[in-house]
Parts: sequence; C-alpha cells; structure tokens
Amino acid sequence: MDRVEVEKLNVEFEKRPAEEVLRWAVGRFHPKIALASSFGVEDVALIDMLVKIEPRARVFTLDTGRLNEETYEVMERIRSKYKIPIEAYFPDFEKVQALERAKGFYSFREAVENRKECCGIRKVEPLGRALKGLEAWITGLRKEQSVTRTGVQKIEIDEVHGNIYKINPLADWTLGQVWEYVKKHQVPYNKLHDLGYPSIGCAPCTRAVKPGEDVRSGRWWWERPENKECGIHR
Ligand code: ADX
Ligand code: SF4
Repeated sequence: MDRVEVEKLNVEFEKRPAEEVLRWAVGRFHPKIALASSFGVEDVALIDMLVKIEPRARVFTLDTGRLNEETYEVMERIRSKYKIPIEAYFPDFEKVQALERAKGFYSFREAVENRKECCGIRKVEPLGRALKGLEAWITGLRKEQSVTRTGVQKIEIDEVHGNIYKINPLADWTLGQVWEYVKKHQVPYNKLHDLGYPSIGCAPCTRAVKPGEDVRSGRWWWERPENKECGIHR
C-alpha cells in the first residue's frame, strides 16, 4: 500500500466528479470492491452511479436488527429497480442474545460505553466480516456531515481494516448536491428523509430534526457531537 500514490490520486481527483472516482476504483478493484450502504440519501445516489458503471457492482449492508421499517422498504425498492443482490450482514446472534439478556433492550441509552458496545456487536464486528477478502470499500461519507468527518479524503488507506482502500467519492459534496442527483436520476430514497430525518441509522437511535438543526443532531441525540461515531469509521 503506497501512501504517496494515494496522495497523488487525491490531488488528481480533487476537482473531478464523483463518478470518475468510482470508475477508477471499480476498474481497479472490482469484484474485490463493495459499497457499504445504510440506504441513506448519499448511499442510494452512489448505488445509481455504481450500477451505471458496473451492473454487477457489489453492495453490502449491516442489518443491525434495529433498523426502521422504511429502511427495509427502500432496500427492497433498490434491489428490484437495479436488479442487484444486497449482501446483508447480521450481527452474531449469540452476542446480541447475551447483551439483551444481561442489559436489556435499551442499554445504549444508559452510557456512551454501552452505546459503543451495542454498535460494536451490531455494526463493527459484522463490518469486519463484510470487508474480508475485499481490497477496497466505498462509503457515502461527506466532510460536511460532522465535526468528526472534516478530514475525510476521497481516497484513503483504511488502517483499521488491514490497509485496504476506502473510497469516499462524495467527500466534498454538500447535502444539496446529493439531493439534486437523487431527484434528477429518480433514485428511490428512504421515506424518512421526507419526515425530517437527514441522517438515518437504527430506529431507537435516530429521530427527526427541526429545520436549521445540524444534520446529525438526530443521531444518538442524547450524546455530545464528538462521541457520535459508531466505530465503523475510525
Ligand atoms: S454512522 O457510522 O454514523 O452510522 P452514517 O449513517 O453517517 O454512519 O453513514 C456513513 C456511511 O457509513 C454510509 O454512507 C455508509 O457507507 C456507511 N454505513 C453506515 N451505516 C451502515 C450500515 N448499516 N450498513 C452499511 N454501511 C453503513
Ligand atoms: Fe445499537 Fe443504536 Fe448502535 Fe444501532 S445505532 S447498533 S441500536 S447503539
């Protein structure tokens, strides 16, 4: 893995459209590249771009078992519109059972450590399995999303996951640009976005925000902004 090459690529792709970053990544890594999708607005835009580049593009999702019904609905709409399998990863059932039996069904509300424990079981461990054998993964991360994401680059080396490539084609997009893409290309999107949810995670940890509020203020709303990462992006 060559850091100098990654830096050069970021300079090269700095002013180039997201589709070009994706085309480069797919050309280089397919089929050992997959999009991590929570089916938020960024991810559905990326699926539309990806399938137009490579009809057999790979998409995986971490089905935590606590997602909103609307999220399953958009997954199904995407699956049938683009005719792609969605590679779902479930948490280890024994770990979920043990957590629920020991700490109940809302332990994540009690302390940041408990919340990270739940995210660890339901998201981080399954992500490790999803990334096995891949040389690169794609995400919908954007710099603008939060104080924890201002340093996101279009192309990164993911040291936490065995130094594979992490591709963030929308790193410098605004939320407005994402919506413009989705409307223009008539991409199916999660209905919760129309009900005031700009960012959607698990049902018990996500709520609608008021106009003008920060886009991630509805995620783990009882926590401070600097804690609001579930551990899949470190
Ligand atoms: S999170 O870490 O706080 O949950 P966020 O919802 O902003 O992340 O999503 C950022 C990116 O992480 C998404 O664009 C997607 O690439 C990936 N991601 C988040 N949640 C999931 C999930 N459940 N399954 C697959 N990828 C996900
Ligand atoms: Fe658990 Fe909430 Fe994290 Fe989902 S977002 S894995 S329910 S703590």
